[in-house]
Amino acid sequence: MSEPRKILVTSALPYANGSIHLGHMLEYIQTDMWVRFQKHRGNQCIYVCADDAHGSAIMLRAEKEGITPEQLIANVQAEHSADFADFLVDFDNFHSTHAEENRELSSQIYLKLRDAGHIATRSITQYFDPEKKMFLADRFIKGTCPKCGTEDQYGDNCEKCGATYAPTDLKDPKSAISGATPVLKDSQHFFFKLPDFQQMLQTWTRSGTLQDAVANKIAEWLDAGLQQWDISRDAPYFGFEIPDEPGKYFYVWLDAPIGYMASFKNLCNRTPELDFDAFWGKDSTAELYHFIGKDIVNFHALFWPAMLEGAGYRKPTGINVHGYLTVNGQKMSKSRGTFIKARTYLDHLSPEYLRYYYAAKLGRGVDDLDLNLEDFVQKVNSDLVGKVVNIASRCAGFINKGNAGVMVDTNAAPELTDAFLAAAPSIADAYEARDFARAMREIMGLADRANAWIADKAPWSLNKQEGKQDEVQAICATGVNLFRQLVIFLKPVLPLLAADAEAFLNVAPLTWNDHATLLSNHQLNEFKPLMTRIDPVKVQAMTDASKEDLTASQTDTGEAAPAGNGELAKDPLSPEIEFDTFAAVDLRVALIVKAEHVEGADKLLRLTLDIGDETRNVFSGIKSAYPDPSKLDGRLTMMIANLKPRKMKFGISEGMVMAAGPGGAEIYLLSPDSGAKPGQRIK
Ligand code: 2FM
Ligand code: ZN
Repeated sequence: MSEPRKILVTSALPYANGSIHLGHMLEYIQTDMWVRFQKHRGNQCIYVCADDAHGSAIMLRAEKEGITPEQLIANVQAEHSADFADFLVDFDNFHSTHAEENRELSSQIYLKLRDAGHIATRSITQYFDPEKKMFLADRFIKGTCPKCGTEDQYGDNCEKCGATYAPTDLKDPKSAISGATPVLKDSQHFFFKLPDFQQMLQTWTRSGTLQDAVANKIAEWLDAGLQQWDISRDAPYFGFEIPDEPGKYFYVWLDAPIGYMASFKNLCNRTPELDFDAFWGKDSTAELYHFIGKDIVNFHALFWPAMLEGAGYRKPTGINVHGYLTVNGQKMSKSRGTFIKARTYLDHLSPEYLRYYYAAKLGRGVDDLDLNLEDFVQKVNSDLVGKVVNIASRCAGFINKGNAGVMVDTNAAPELTDAFLAAAPSIADAYEARDFARAMREIMGLADRANAWIADKAPWSLNKQEGKQDEVQAICATGVNLFRQLVIFLKPVLPLLAADAEAFLNVAPLTWNDHATLLSNHQLNEFKPLMTRIDPVKVQAMTDASKEDLTASQTDTGEAAPAGNGELAKDPLSPEIEFDTFAAVDLRVALIVKAEHVEGADKLLRLTLDIGDETRNVFSGIKSAYPDPSKLDGRLTMMIANLKPRKMKFGISEGMVMAAGPGGAEIYLLSPDSGAKPGQRIK
């Protein structure tokens, strides 16, 4: 037996300003399956992650919600942790970049880089918001595209014509935060001298650390020549102040990857047998892998190894890059209901369905993965329920009734059990190489053979014949053994199914090496259905609820829609509007004649509103705060009466009522003072 490997694994740190969605889950599920595989094989494998808690987006979002950034990131961390746990993503530690360990490590790494001469300073000129008194990142500046003249475009590119430009090229620039016209202002910035590491990176990126496609992309950047990297931001900024530089903060991307180390350090601090230096020291023999999406390759394959090298730490063994998630062949879309939050999925479906589907489609490359919802239902039902679980359910009853639940010691299919044994190394290689799709194909190939063999032996027919009972028991015991092998092979993907199967098999938690043995003369426990088929109605309910998430968050509660792909939502803030725009809104006092539940809708109430000269039907996402809608009957509120009617799944919504608050139980419907009459205009 070879020595167990020491492996440290990370997934990209999700931003602490939005919900986890199925696009994020692709990466966490991929990583978790790989980590579980390593643990299953007896290796020491530690999986750490954290929320990425710094930056101006988080600062501004907290300000908008009227809470501190610390409160915001604590709320989001609780939500993220629950989502991951319920998707069976089993971190050894889930920390935050806004933590003392990270402050210490970030400062220490910066000082080492500075003292080694890898930090430069110079003044740069940037747009500054004179009202908010802050420098504006490109995405916080809006203006008219210098190329095609389209208004309301962001500071770095035009959504209409695709042009890219500097914010200073925009015509009529405005701060997206306050609406003020920004002014140009100078400030001293700190730069990491990435070109100092050109040679090292040229070698390191070609040393088997990257997939070929990624290494080729990086080679283009290396050939073009590396630039110094701006690692500082001016106050106000939510982050860590740079040592000896009051008012200057580390750019969020400086301390984010150090967050990997900090999360591990935090784990070491409460786990005496873990030694930080054994994993991060220059001479570490441990393996270190970062799983990331293809959008953040530059940070992980250039900046990060250079920072580690410059500060005297070891570099990663591998950067494992995956592609994006599409749903039904297209980018996730809020209006199509395919922008699915982790929690919305979990409200309707079991996490293991998605884990299996992702596994079945994930290769080791950087191609995008399509979650086709019809194929999802079909594949999970056919493979997991129709093939794997079916073997156990076909055999268990005969053993239970015919032999008091005891598996006999006859192997009725030695060739087949040998084939299962012989397949194990190849399946293990596929897992090791992150070629989950190949692992699943090979496992399902074995399941097909087991099912074909049982169908051929037809114990259900033999059982009706005189004197064939021993044969039936031998077939069924063999069938259960084959099922057990499949469960061992699938355990990294389906930990819940494995736990339920272990309970049925009456065995200790299975490890990979158990595949080399068979059960004989073994008492089983009662068989309970291990997995049910996906009902397509639930998939429909999930996409409907995703559309509702949008309706509820955008139309009525004032809550911003979540950012996609961990990026800042494009318009999370409220720029000033002209008086004419305001005057065009027909705000009216409305009498709630009737408020009622909407069948099949989790978040909506149907409101019948009297606005003086007419009655309106409005769907409003306020159910979480008003679980007993009848309490709203007879109450006055305010509505926007000239909002274009919206066709929704449940009917047409003819306007919008006004409410405040962050959502959930905290939604407050606005009301005028008593005496106001339905239909009166609000001026
Ligand atoms: O792109 C993102 O969502 C970042 N929050 C990932 C950070 S990964 C690491 F470097 F911390
Ligand atoms: Zn343009």
